[in-house]
Amino acid sequence: MAQPVTKAIFPVAGLGTRFLPATKANPKEMLPIVDKPLIQYAVEEAIKAGITELIFVTSSSKRAIEDHFDTNFELEYRLQQQGKTELLDMVQKIVPKGVDCIYVRQPQALGLGHAVLCARQVVGNYPFAVLLADDLIDANTPCLTQMMKIYHETESSVIAVEKIASEDSEKYGVIAVDQNWRGQGPIQAIVEKPKPQDAPSNLAVVGRYILTAKIFEHLAKVPPGRGGEIQLTDAIASLLKEQKAMGIQFDGIRYDCGSKLGYMQATITLGLRHPELGAEFRAFLQEAVS
Ligand code: UTP
Repeated sequence: MAQPVTKAIFPVAGLGTRFLPATKANPKEMLPIVDKPLIQYAVEEAIKAGITELIFVTSSSKRAIEDHFDTNFELEYRLQQQGKTELLDMVQKIVPKGVDCIYVRQPQALGLGHAVLCARQVVGNYPFAVLLADDLIDANTPCLTQMMKIYHETESSVIAVEKIASEDSEKYGVIAVDQNWRGQGPIQAIVEKPKPQDAPSNLAVVGRYILTAKIFEHLAKVPPGRGGEIQLTDAIASLLKEQKAMGIQFDGIRYDCGSKLGYMQATITLGLRHPELGAEFRAFLQEAVS
């Protein structure tokens, strides 16, 4: 039986250059979609999939993330005094009981692979998930839950992918699959940001991974790749030489909230669905575009 996956790494130490100037002093993971920061959506997805240990790989400019998941005594006291029990309850349940937060520093933004490697001591010899909070995935069954099912069936690493237009291949890791691919299957190869003519398929890696602890050995030895960064994709390519990994085209829609357009699309989609604001927002949008 596969070891249960209870640990998740949230690499949040990137510089967020695509979203400047908003991300100059504020972490991009704290950008709200309606009323909740991106990182909280990712944390909720992880908890729904059975994760109980949240490992944040942070940097000096990301303290707001630690504060968000910590107790705010003054706020809670005030809400209690004012009888705002619903708000109090909501604030207190951001991290449910039985779930722990652990923070690890990435001293320099040396790449996603390096950020994951920074969490090695905390993860130990266990399988773990990686969630990139700027990829917000809107799905009936949370994306990580869909991936867990395949992890338990195959006892191997699982990587979420989606179809992209071929001209976008240089923005992503792209996987090669065999002719039996029907939305999921073994990954034959993986390449970081290939040119469209070199891309092995139109299946691009998005920000959700379940990885075996073996990946750390590969992360520790892969040389810096594109952009001089330690690439998680390169370590996965190296892992594939000794272990199987599965790809899954998840059911759901991914919004790249690290880009301004993706962020606006997510805001509109979730805004329209918001229980308190949805109807009014829809009416406003209809008038605004007419
Ligand atoms: P991105 O490629 O989105 O990089 O990283 P970025 O630096 O955050 O944003 P841009 O491209 O400059 O706008 C993917 C994920 O990996 C994390 C980021 O925080 C993001 O969640 N990351 C990236 C790190 O934690 N450390 C790094 O050195 C690089």
